[in-house]
Amino acid sequence: MYKLHTTCRACGTGNPVLKTLKQSTAAGTVYDLAASLVPVFDLGPMPLANDFCGPDDERAGYAPLKVMLCPNCGLAQLSVVVSPQVLYRNYPYVTSNSATMRKHFADIRYDIGEEAGDFKGVLEIGSNDGTLMLFLQEHGAKCIGIDPATNLTEIANKRGAYSLGTMFDAYSADLIVTTHGKPDVIIGRHVFAHVDNWKSFVRCLELVSAAHTLICLEVPYVIDQLDSVSWDQVYHEHLSYVSVRAVDSLLHGTALRLHKVKHYGIHGGSIMLMLRHRESEEPVNESVAKFIEQENASADRWAAFSIEARRRIDQLASFIRARATEGKMVVGYGASAKSTQWLNACKLHKSEVRFVCDNTPQKQYKTCPGSEIPVADEGALTRELPDYAVCFAWNFAEEIIAKEKIFHDKGGKWVIPVPQIKVL
Ligand code: TMP
Repeated sequence: MYKLHTTCRACGTGNPVLKTLKQSTAAGTVYDLAASLVPVFDLGPMPLANDFCGPDDERAGYAPLKVMLCPNCGLAQLSVVVSPQVLYRNYPYVTSNSATMRKHFADIRYDIGEEAGDFKGVLEIGSNDGTLMLFLQEHGAKCIGIDPATNLTEIANKRGAYSLGTMFDAYSADLIVTTHGKPDVIIGRHVFAHVDNWKSFVRCLELVSAAHTLICLEVPYVIDQLDSVSWDQVYHEHLSYVSVRAVDSLLHGTALRLHKVKHYGIHGGSIMLMLRHRESEEPVNESVAKFIEQENASADRWAAFSIEARRRIDQLASFIRARATEGKMVVGYGASAKSTQWLNACKLHKSEVRFVCDNTPQKQYKTCPGSEIPVADEGALTRELPDYAVCFAWNFAEEIIAKEKIFHDKGGKWVIPVPQIKVL
């Protein structure tokens, strides 16, 4: 189900045979630890965060969840890679169509336009159910999408967002160029951190792009994750915790370079890495050097993150258990991958968290991975009127709280787990 990951996917540090062997002494072999990936955060075996199953589905099971830090380029990455065939089979994550997300789409379209002018041809990698493509098409773009989750590309095609249901690789990149030509803009939202072989991904980007193409990769930003201790974003799909410095290191010796970096509040803090061909005449924006200069994702920061994450897990678990013991009804709101992390790390059971409500049809009436807590529809919140609702979709908290006013008006309390555990 998974393979071990020992070599930094950005800079190549940590190859156990070629790089770490230092010398042989009478006492045995001495290894150069500075040339190995260093463990910095360990959650032990955890279920796959999006493995929501119905009564007849077989669970994928558990895999180790440990973050390793590269001492050379600073990239944090998981110690194992779960097979994408297991991870993305019948994938239930659909791009949010919330007001927060629609505002974000408008923001990124504006920022891309500042660089790429009145762009037309767009390739979206990891295009999901086509939500972003449809938004861009409404504004005159001509889009093609690609995503390995065929259950979602089927939906996208029905909605009018032309999508290929396959992995982005050299073969599909070649097919796209042959059938559609090279795009003006390539967008990959929250897909790059999911990719195992970064070198080959960059080669495919080289293949599919022209000298004028602007490549925009949006990723959760590791510095925001460290600042807010959003440890719940550590799950098997997120193979890397991306810094600008690590991507800069990856691009050495390739045809691509960093061009500009933009920061957004979406998903708890994300950055858009804008890449261009080295032969492009556009000057590198000053944001690239600024981000690299200010980044601190050191082992010490990860150590502090790890201690604080454990403290918060204990805090939330004790809070929920105490309320359940008092006879209060506690539920979750948002069956996000983050909910799986909290429910399992806190070892919560359905006698303590009765259900998690969510507006995604692909998740409703299934059960959460590991905890087996049922997923209900959103309406369950006002039907059941629990005493507490833990907002596991904390990145949409403002919008959700405004939408679910009745729950709060009738005495229900929100528990927000990130960036600080608070009760409202
Ligand atoms: P995400 O943070 O990984 O995007 O997941 C958010 C989850 O919360 C997703 O399963 C959809 C769900 N959700 C609702 O149920 N209602 C809402 O209003 C919003 C914004 C999200």
